Amino acid sequence: MQKPAITFPQREFFGEWMTDQLLIRKVPERIRSWIEQERREHGMTQQEFVVSILEHAFGREELPLFPAAVRRVDVSGPDTLPFTFADFFAGIGGFRTALQSLGGECRYSCEWDKYSQKTYKTWYGDTPAGDIRKIKTKEIPDHDVLAGGFPCQPFSIAGVSKKRSLGHAHGFKCETQGNLFFNLATIIEQKRPPVAFLENVKNLQSHDQGRTWGVIKDTLEQLGYCVFHKVIDAAAWVPQHRERVYIVCFDKQRFGEKPPFRFPEAPAGPRPRLSDILEPNPDPKYTLGDHLWQYLQDYADRHKAKGNGFGYGLANLSGVTRTLSARYFKDGSEILIPQKGNNPRRLTPRECARLMGFPDEYPIVVSDTQAYRQFGNAVVPPVVQAVAREIISVLTWQIMRSGSLFKASRRRAKAS
Ligand SMILES: C[S@@+](CC[C@H](N)C(=O)[O-])C[C@H]1O[C@@H](n2cnc3c(N)ncnc32)[C@H](O)[C@@H]1O
Repeated sequence: MQKPAITFPQREFFGEWMTDQLLIRKVPERIRSWIEQERREHGMTQQEFVVSILEHAFGREELPLFPAAVRRVDVSGPDTLPFTFADFFAGIGGFRTALQSLGGECRYSCEWDKYSQKTYKTWYGDTPAGDIRKIKTKEIPDHDVLAGGFPCQPFSIAGVSKKRSLGHAHGFKCETQGNLFFNLATIIEQKRPPVAFLENVKNLQSHDQGRTWGVIKDTLEQLGYCVFHKVIDAAAWVPQHRERVYIVCFDKQRFGEKPPFRFPEAPAGPRPRLSDILEPNPDPKYTLGDHLWQYLQDYADRHKAKGNGFGYGLANLSGVTRTLSARYFKDGSEILIPQKGNNPRRLTPRECARLMGFPDEYPIVVSDTQAYRQFGNAVVPPVVQAVAREIISVLTWQIMRSGSLFKASRRRAKAS
């Protein structure tokens, strides 16, 4: 069956098919600006204007003359929506890969590491802006979703009380300066994206007895966002145990106090297995030398004797690996692949890409060391995609009930 050009919003919010509400995707720029200009001139909302045109056509019982071959817009499925986003602390674009696959258009990206910039440029065609601390907010175009896996640097806000970090009249100064989360918070404060979609290590929640997370959550709430967060293990999507906290924030001015958001369920069906992503004939250079392998075994034995669990991790091929870290390049000890009759080997960079859920079509254009670091730092695109589908449900819900994501902000701007 051919997909309709006009698509309907999703499942549980409206039932399977809508009878009295329509969502029209990808309106061409010239039509959009015409609608905008006309509706302003007539003092109408976008919805009133479009409905009046349809009524006019209906009343005359004639359809406009369609060109013989109208191109059906294909944004590829019920879970996609044309929306815009900005990619902060972009790394190699784990957010971008996922959001683009759902109809997102990247308007801006920011990443200061030159090797990550190189990978990013190769994969997506543009080079991210550099140091976030030097960016002027006015350089950042408006966007619907602000995405960012802010660095898991030691949080310098430890010890800063919630009250003190929030009481500043003009953004976040003084004791909070220097912590990159607050650079992001300032951008959120000034750009007011409808949605902020953040990611961090699981420990963010327990750091400094929960105070760090408390400050971050309170900051986002203080900015007027409704904050949802959940630790999700990527092991349901890729063969890697990787727990990360996903933070999804909706602007209350647009979405109200209780946007109908929920985090995704793990996909049904068999779990991915490490053996699914291994290369058949990896280069022998990835096999550990005798010296390193002996060192890792001795190190593990010493710690075992002391009752510690530290040591290398020989992976189970029919299970999932430990978490790939940014320091995997050092000795690869956290994920070693057993080999019959030989020392174990580390994963190849391509296997790391697969372990993170990046497509094989993406070429690896940096050294092995940089590639390991980039994949170990990244977010898992299939998990981001699953969470983003749920965000899109809410965006769709919002568009349906108010006609536009930006309506609330326009009203506010007029009022002030
Ligand atoms: C946890 S990683 C995010 C990785 C990304 N989500 C991905 O999928 O690849 C944090 C990133 O922030 C970048 N970064 C750190 N400080 C920065 C700064 N001051 N300005 C811009 N980027 C910065 C780091 O280079 C790193 O790539």
